Amino acid sequence: MDSCLLFSGNSNIELSKKIAKYLNKELSSINIYRFKDSEICVKIEENIRGKDVFIIQSTCMPVNENLMELLITLDALRRASPRRITAVIPYYGYARQDRKDQPRVPITAKLVANLLVTAGANRILTIDLHAPQIQGFFDIPVDHLFAAPVIIKYLKEKNFKKPVIVAPDVGSVKMARAFAKRLPGDLAIVDKRRESPEKVEMVHVIGDVKGCEAIIVDDLISTGGTMVEAANALLNNGAEVVYGCCTHAVLAGDAIEKLTNSKLKEIIITDTIPQTNLPSKFTILTVSELLGEAIKSIHLETTVSKLFI
Ligand code: R5P
Repeated sequence: MDSCLLFSGNSNIELSKKIAKYLNKELSSINIYRFKDSEICVKIEENIRGKDVFIIQSTCMPVNENLMELLITLDALRRASPRRITAVIPYYGYARQDRKDQPRVPITAKLVANLLVTAGANRILTIDLHAPQIQGFFDIPVDHLFAAPVIIKYLKEKNFKKPVIVAPDVGSVKMARAFAKRLPGDLAIVDKRRESPEKVEMVHVIGDVKGCEAIIVDDLISTGGTMVEAANALLNNGAEVVYGCCTHAVLAGDAIEKLTNSKLKEIIITDTIPQTNLPSKFTILTVSELLGEAIKSIHLETTVSKLFI
């Protein structure tokens, strides 16, 4: 792993440090600073000529700052002649803008893909894209990991008696089915209607949840509306207790308060996005080993499929 260098942007330094520790490496030296007018400037502080370089950066809040920092860092890296640059993006922001669902709107997930490639990325490593098809927005290799093995390992320790995995909308059915197969458990779906970006309505539950431990799984929690309303619908339909799981805890606006005051027993998230001082209702699992193994496989050119088990 000597010719493999790990760099970190500022978005999630804790996760980058954990990945480096797992790989028994130090983070390589980079200076990211601001001009007085807030322009970002980057200096790579060591020779990377001919090296296999990984830059770790989630494009989480502040999304535009973190994205711009990643793009500028890629440009700095590319101009220093490495052998290959992999952008490790644990959370890929703008992924929800992945299609024209109304007239005259952008497809920003594709724009971001173009920007990353133009800036210098030769390869992408990411986790639980909002829609797996976003991989096709890139004409470079994309390694798309799932946080499911990390979350399922934790859920198994709870020894549920009658678990039902719940998709809070049709978009999450595939993810829920994978969880249900591996936990194992039954599957249910909540019929979600989104009235606005901040307001969702859920009434119907497809599947039997009576007397069950309901486990909602989703790729992300933003305002928390989906999780909270799904939990209410499940309890109204007879679920005994409701847990919420997601890979990316965006937690925008008053989401933390809303989720803390909700009827959810526990909210299980990962560290693709950094968190500080979350209430005890939240459990944070790390994806550092998953990403560390993937980085190792990419560098050593071995298969990453073992990570999907
Ligand atoms: C929707 O397609 C996603 O999978 C999430 O369910 C959604 O983005 C969560 O948003 P919020 O927390 O604001 O309801």
